Amino acid sequence: MKNIDIVTNIVVCNYNELNDDQKKLVDCAKEACSRAYAPYSHFNVGAAALLDNGEIISGSNQENAAYPSGTCAERTTLFYAGAQHPNNAVKRLAIAAYKGNDFTATPTAPCGACRQVILETEHRYNTPIEIILYGTEKTYIVTSIESLLPLCFGKTDLE
Ligand code: THU
Repeated sequence: MKNIDIVTNIVVCNYNELNDDQKKLVDCAKEACSRAYAPYSHFNVGAAALLDNGEIISGSNQENAAYPSGTCAERTTLFYAGAQHPNNAVKRLAIAAYKGNDFTATPTAPCGACRQVILETEHRYNTPIEIILYGTEKTYIVTSIESLLPLCFGKTDLE
């Protein structure tokens, strides 16, 4: 018997330390929060994806009275990107959340289902996605979903 230690690297910084391209994507994610449809949770999440052609796609959570029928900001964004731009890899993804009367102080991390969809997007285009999780007090950056989803199940498991 032996142990496996899994190490995850997360850069902790604040908004001012991001470069201009990262700031721009975070700004798009923050702006997308205003278009969330979240009458049940009142938790407005925005996501923005940078494509390899430079285009930015944004999306927000869209809830439903039948709760499971709603979807998260990350999946809204990545499915829209895939539907509209099937030949463009996603290079970077920013996520922000607005609760009460401000953006969250700590970063909002994607739920398990969204992590799986981000993983599929990385595998689909064979391109790692830098993920920026915005918070007013601190922001996290990871260079790939593998940092948030170790021991993952992906398409290679089916081959
Ligand atoms: N939500 C997201 O859109 N993304 C996340 O990363 C976490 C949760 C949404 C789903 C639901 O509309 C609301 O936030 C509360 O869970």
